[in-house]
Amino acid sequence: MRPRRFTAAGALKGSIKVPGDKSISHRALMFGALAVGETCISGLLEGEDIMATAAAMRAMGATIDRVAEGEWRVRGVGVGGLLQPDVALDMGNSGTSTRLLLGLLASHGITVSFTGDASLSKRPMGRVIEPLAQMGADILASPGSDGSQTLPLMIRGAQPAVPITYRLPVASAQVKSAILLAGLNTPGVTTVIEPVPTRDHSERMLTGFGAELTVEEQLGADGPERVIRIRGEAELKPQTIEVPGDPSSAAFFIVAALLVPGSDLIIENVGLNPTRAGLIEALRLMGAQIEELNARTVGGEPVADLHVVHSPLKGTVVDPSIAPSMIDEFPILFVAAAMAEGRTVTSGLHELRVKESDRLKVMAEALTAAGAKIEEREDGLVIDGTGGNPLAGTAGDPVFTHLDHRIAMSMAIAGLVSRDGVELDDTRPIATSFPAFEQLLDDLFS
Ligand code: S3P
Repeated sequence: MRPRRFTAAGALKGSIKVPGDKSISHRALMFGALAVGETCISGLLEGEDIMATAAAMRAMGATIDRVAEGEWRVRGVGVGGLLQPDVALDMGNSGTSTRLLLGLLASHGITVSFTGDASLSKRPMGRVIEPLAQMGADILASPGSDGSQTLPLMIRGAQPAVPITYRLPVASAQVKSAILLAGLNTPGVTTVIEPVPTRDHSERMLTGFGAELTVEEQLGADGPERVIRIRGEAELKPQTIEVPGDPSSAAFFIVAALLVPGSDLIIENVGLNPTRAGLIEALRLMGAQIEELNARTVGGEPVADLHVVHSPLKGTVVDPSIAPSMIDEFPILFVAAAMAEGRTVTSGLHELRVKESDRLKVMAEALTAAGAKIEEREDGLVIDGTGGNPLAGTAGDPVFTHLDHRIAMSMAIAGLVSRDGVELDDTRPIATSFPAFEQLLDDLFS
């Protein structure tokens, strides 16, 4: 355990750069490992989750080298060319590595075991097992305490796999991507129907690598839906990829600058893909002053520098339809709401209960311990903010981060706007997505 108390340290001023996008980094390594030839990646996130993906792709035959900070070279094995690893793949804390790799392996005729840490071993895998089994994969998972299917598990892929048409029952980019990746080595056309749009990095990057992939809108029973088709037995061509900064990492500094009086911060190179930018929209509705400078395209993704100044925030009702575009940002939005004037109501957030931790329960407990007024409902939190007054902070026991990096970073930011500071039980989980977080914060205040 590495405990730490985060305390008020003054305004955030100057200019910072956040690390590469986690979702895009996973995909760059995976797709590079399937292309024939050398893929060059710059700006790769060097967090533990991404290292789990790199280790897995190496164990299955790809050559992956770090050339300099954030600069990586990948020599792939070709679609269908993954080799059976000698040992179980340890996915650590990473749900994205696990679910996307299960997809890839569903159409490779090899047998692979997956293990993970205590957090990942509780997370539901049935959502990918169900469609991948329809494609012919054989997956034996461990029974979870609530009857769900969990890690450790073993998959034997089908070769050839069977193409399917699958309508996503949960709004999940991981499930969508798992099926598309299975489709890469499946004869014919695999189709995913997405009633609610989720992050589209897989679609953008697979197209960049030369896969035959189409996206169409059609009118479904509940309104417009996206139909994504991929033609299998594709050949991927190696690419040069620049990974934009991660909006989910920028989120902590955006909210910190909004909440701490006197702050005036530039956050450079932030990815603003519309399927990821919901937090900025929600904060603007609360009165946040966030300006986009230097809008440009990096690695096929919209990017800008963000100029954020301290802004008094007002409570709001967050429309559940924007949830998928800010799904990882709710913990830090809850911190913003705890400091806003009036009430913030969130709903439709069942998915938060199956992330790295139960983020509704854990954030309700942690913010309550820090002095905020929170009501936990089944599908969201209701928060009565302080109107800009500091939170009391935690005087006694530390708050529990439950192996969840985003809980740790959100509560660290809560510490910056508290009277007594907020003590975390363990800062180590932060390294899964943002190893430089504490250094960046400390440098801003030195
Ligand atoms: C991710 C998708 C999201 C997100 C996760 C990364 C991805 O998960 O929470 O951090 O890279 O596809 P779900 O697809 O389960 O919503």
